[in-house]
Amino acid sequence: MSVTVFNGIAARLRAAGCVYAEEEARLLLSASGSPEELDSMTEKRAAGFPLEHVMGYAEFCGFRIEVDPHVFVPRRRTEFLVNEAAAITRTGDTVLDLCCGSGAVGAVLAKLKPGIRLYAADIDSKAVTCAIRNVREADGVVFEGDLYEPLPKNLRGSVNVLVVNAPYVPTNAMSSLPSEARIHEDRIALDGGLDGHDVQRRSVIGAGSWLAPGGFLLMETSSGQSAETLRIFQEQGFLSKVAFSPDLEATVVIGTKVKAGSARLS
Ligand SMILES: C[S@@+](CC[C@H](N)C(=O)[O-])C[C@H]1O[C@@H](n2cnc3c(N)ncnc32)[C@H](O)[C@@H]1O
Repeated sequence: MSVTVFNGIAARLRAAGCVYAEEEARLLLSASGSPEELDSMTEKRAAGFPLEHVMGYAEFCGFRIEVDPHVFVPRRRTEFLVNEAAAITRTGDTVLDLCCGSGAVGAVLAKLKPGIRLYAADIDSKAVTCAIRNVREADGVVFEGDLYEPLPKNLRGSVNVLVVNAPYVPTNAMSSLPSEARIHEDRIALDGGLDGHDVQRRSVIGAGSWLAPGGFLLMETSSGQSAETLRIFQEQGFLSKVAFSPDLEATVVIGTKVKAGSARLS
């Protein structure tokens, strides 16, 4: 591809307000199969579509995760949830990625911890379609429905690691989200209800009966909401702690349901 074409793409992206115009131009050039496709991808990006939706994939923990239009784009901060889960997960564990979106969290966990039995679930059919592709290599199984409702009953009491990145934006903060999220990701992926904890709360309340004895629940939250997320965990009898990554500006609450005094979270 000529320098002139590259410069033209970068100029169109820059004019549309893309901060990393050159880098994005390079990515679009590598992802497009023809000049027509390149033109259409540039047009979409200039119109404000998230780069990941234009490209059809996101880089997450160094892996390529397919992301379909409207499906939540896995965020860099969520790599902390994956890392914290990987530190706890052992070969042969049953892992459930609840509110899985593209399936990014479970798919990468399976790459880092081969040999896990991976299940995932989401209420949105577009997310489920996308997740099925991303967890295929790990032989993951994806269910569609409200939280635990679509899961097979024989999974009850057998989940060793339950990872959840539920929507946690308070409804009245939705309007201040960047337009890429507000317009191009579905509201159900972001809106956590009045205080932002609706789906988190229901996930924690339901978790106890799906976890194996000594199993772990890990949930992404924001630093400002972590005290309330922690309180919800404790209210449901979880021995819990808040983990924070300054580098990724990421917060995860981790809990385990054991008799107090018989185990510790390090
Ligand atoms: C913040 S996104 C996270 C997606 C993915 N876990 C990730 O980190 O990239 C939240 C996801 O929760 C799903 N969701 C929202 N409410 C749900 C519910 N009641 N039951 C199951 N999934 C739900 C949305 O469809 C969306 O895919």
